[in-house]
Amino acid sequence: MITVGVNGYGTIGKRVADAVTQQPDMELAGVAKTRPNFEAETAVRKGYPLYAAVEERVELFEEAGIDLTGSVTDLVEESDVIVDACPSGIGAENRSMYESHDTPALYQGGEDADLVDVSFNARGNYSAAAGASHVRVVSCNTTGLSRLLAPLEERYGVEKARVTLVRRGGDPGQTSRGPINDILPNPITIPSHHGPDVNTILPDLDIDTLGMKVPATLMHTHSVNVTLESPPTADDVRELLADESRIFLVPESMAIDGAGKLKEFAHDADRPRGDIWENCVWEESISIEDDDLYLFEAIHQESDVVPENIDAIRAVTETADATESTTTTNETLGIGL
Ligand SMILES: NC(=O)c1ccc[n+]([C@@H]2O[C@H](COP(=O)([O-])OP(=O)(O)OC[C@H]3O[C@@H](n4cnc5c(N)ncnc54)[C@H](OP(=O)(O)O)[C@@H]3O)[C@@H](O)[C@H]2O)c1
Repeated sequence: MITVGVNGYGTIGKRVADAVTQQPDMELAGVAKTRPNFEAETAVRKGYPLYAAVEERVELFEEAGIDLTGSVTDLVEESDVIVDACPSGIGAENRSMYESHDTPALYQGGEDADLVDVSFNARGNYSAAAGASHVRVVSCNTTGLSRLLAPLEERYGVEKARVTLVRRGGDPGQTSRGPINDILPNPITIPSHHGPDVNTILPDLDIDTLGMKVPATLMHTHSVNVTLESPPTADDVRELLADESRIFLVPESMAIDGAGKLKEFAHDADRPRGDIWENCVWEESISIEDDDLYLFEAIHQESDVVPENIDAIRAVTETADATESTTTTNETLGIGL
């Protein structure tokens, strides 16, 4: 069994913790919190051992009547692998703590690529993380783009990818984020950082990305144009993507016109928290014009990196190859709409 600790129990951390408990080869050592808020209550209700992320705040938990198992250093010591899901930049501050306990650490996409030995996406570069001590599971957008572009590159060759990312302003729980009434070029400078981030997974891919931010919380949407070296038909591309286990081809017959109905479908399918771990590519948007492929896809920012974290745990511990790991992760989580 691989013992996994989760430091940072927020949007990503709580989903990763739940996913760890569903794996036949993993056990959850516990989760670390800085304060006794509703998420601490949730962890306690689920029976997850709770650790204090900040030693000086132990009495806050005592005052709230929440029992702690120990401090975050105990959690790191107990864990074979630690998943750091702290806010951007805190992972970098935590790195020396993981190093001092000789515990391999997975960080999230908000950390800089140069913090780690390798950036990770299961479809793009699973084996690169073998035995690594510091691994970054790339962001939700980079995860989505890597899953889409890796098979296109392998099958047809990508001459150039151009992607406009229409990004949600914040997650549903992020009440201080925005915009609430605007459409922002973000960043205004072109290209955005997303293309170089994809290159941490697919280094030879020629890609330019542009970012926008809109008043939405549900999902991101990508408007994708890929010039292919040996252009297929649109049906060929549909067949190729239909074979990808973490891509959901949204059929025309479902009448799903956007993120709202996708989320509704996920809730109807009894997905936990309405999560959508797969890229959602609208089947009818897949078009070929000369050498150019066009399509729209939606990415659920809160959950698409969750299966990737699970696979990264097996990759760093070298306990399964890519096919074994992704198959187990997909089966246990119920991936495949
Ligand atoms: N949300 C997304 O859309 C998304 C998608 C992909 C990747 N990511 C990346 O995942 C990482 C986490 O993002 P998130 O959205 O999950 O953030 P989040 O919802 O804010 O969760 C992070 C949690 O970490 C806790 N925390 C703060 N300081 C801490 C510390 N010093 N030690 C331990 N825990 C601490 C906070 O909870 P308490 O203070 O209450 O304990 C907070 O709830 C970031 O790198 C982000 O870029 C986010």
